[in-house]
Amino acid sequence: MECKQQFKWLILAMICPLIAGAPSSMSKRDSSCPKENLNITGGTFVLSKGYSHGSLLRYICPNGYYPSVQSRLCQDGHWTSKTKSRKTPECKKITCPNPRVFENGEVIPYKDKHYVNDTTTYSCHSDYMFRGSADRVCKPNGKWSGNTPICGRDSDHCPDPGVPPGSSRTGNMFNLDDKVTYRCESLLTLIGSKVRVCLDGGQWSGTEPQCYAGFTYDTPEEASEAFSSSLKSNLAVSQQYEKEDQQGKKITMDQGGKLDIYIAVDASESIDQKNFENAKTTIKMLIDKISYYPVSPNYEILIFATDVTPIITMRDFKNNEDARNLMNIFKALDDFNYESRGDKTGTNIAKLYTAILGSMKIEELNNAMTFSETQHIVILFTDGQANMGGNPRPKVEQIKHLVTKNVPMREKNLDLYVFGVGNDVNQEDINGLVSQRDQEKYFFKLKDLTEVQEINDCHALKKQKQTQLQ
Ligand SMILES: *[C@@H]1O[C@H](CO)[C@@H](O)[C@H](O)[C@H]1NC(C)=O
Ligand SMILES: *[C@@H]1O[C@H](CO)[C@@H](O)[C@H](O)[C@H]1NC(C)=O
Repeated sequence: MECKQQFKWLILAMICPLIAGAPSSMSKRDSSCPKENLNITGGTFVLSKGYSHGSLLRYICPNGYYPSVQSRLCQDGHWTSKTKSRKTPECKKITCPNPRVFENGEVIPYKDKHYVNDTTTYSCHSDYMFRGSADRVCKPNGKWSGNTPICGRDSDHCPDPGVPPGSSRTGNMFNLDDKVTYRCESLLTLIGSKVRVCLDGGQWSGTEPQCYAGFTYDTPEEASEAFSSSLKSNLAVSQQYEKEDQQGKKITMDQGGKLDIYIAVDASESIDQKNFENAKTTIKMLIDKISYYPVSPNYEILIFATDVTPIITMRDFKNNEDARNLMNIFKALDDFNYESRGDKTGTNIAKLYTAILGSMKIEELNNAMTFSETQHIVILFTDGQANMGGNPRPKVEQIKHLVTKNVPMREKNLDLYVFGVGNDVNQEDINGLVSQRDQEKYFFKLKDLTEVQEINDCHALKKQKQTQLQ
């Protein structure tokens, strides 16, 4: 129980159900699917509803392996799959991105491929200073443990930004306004900042890039830790400003109330009823989590699929005392049932951001001064790529423009987070929907329910116990 309390926050893990469930269809058919040719080489599979219509087949591979096809869905007598391949599915070995991109030093051992549990050790040539992790282990989620090792001279205005595994960098000058550009090896997607600029304060703009394969995930601990620390610093920035008291001592003032948080949850096709309930629980837990901070945010909560359904709008929240009561919000969430979503099961992310943009415009019209001083946080949970409504990126650009007015100082007034769940998440697309600055991570890619259940028992989380949220 105590464990549950402490890590209530990790309920984020519970958004994983967003992809885990069998996609459902409103229509009742009973054309079942064939039982043949479903095997996966080196693994097994489970079925959510046997061989009947709407059943989800999920492939399971042993530790250190990933399935070349993640799942199949029984639809109208056929097993469909998002991965277009005629080959028999197989369990493939998980590899970590190439560490030999490391510059001005040595990586041992020298190997072509690095599999789960393989270790590497890094050291610098003389005259170079070492930063980062000297020993790294390839983890089961396709990432190296620790931090990017860097050998730099650190004689320029900014420190050597390094070359993260699997990437290559152009730009070897690290003085003010110098730019470095990264790309990832083929088949890997760059998460984070493609271009970084050496800033006044001796720091690089943006977030260190990471190269993700399709099978690379953030563990719930990684996501939780990074999101918590980001949220914590952003909440701190938004709610406090320093002022000198009469004795000239600096005191921290609470701005109070100038924090608008937009939470949006995907309710599109692949969420079944049970997981839909879990998604609602996630929102409650997130709000509950934020209530531990000394802030009093305003909320807008949206559920979206083909259309966008507000549970509460920003204006209602601010205007209506009843609506502001969190218990009433929770009740409104409870009252929003699976059927309310209807049969419209697309993923219209553009429409979602349009709705948020609309609400923000209303807030600005209502009080432009307050709006300009407000911290705006947008948190999107989605299990798939936008499949209708067009590219959401222009809408996000409009939101950025509305909040920041292209004034660099105001950039910190907007934080855009995305939690992507499962294989269908198009990482490259989502990279354009999140903030990229201050060394913080704004996009999280989580795996699925089965993986998460394994760590829900708290064991993996003990380490964080002391540091989280206190
Ligand atoms: C598929 O796997 C099952 C259980 O391991 C086995 O009995 C069956 O013969 C396999 N089918 C094929 C076509 O390989
Ligand atoms: C990696 O090491 C851990 C701990 O020793 C072990 O439980 C796990 O099975 C190993 N994984 C692989 C893929 O070898």
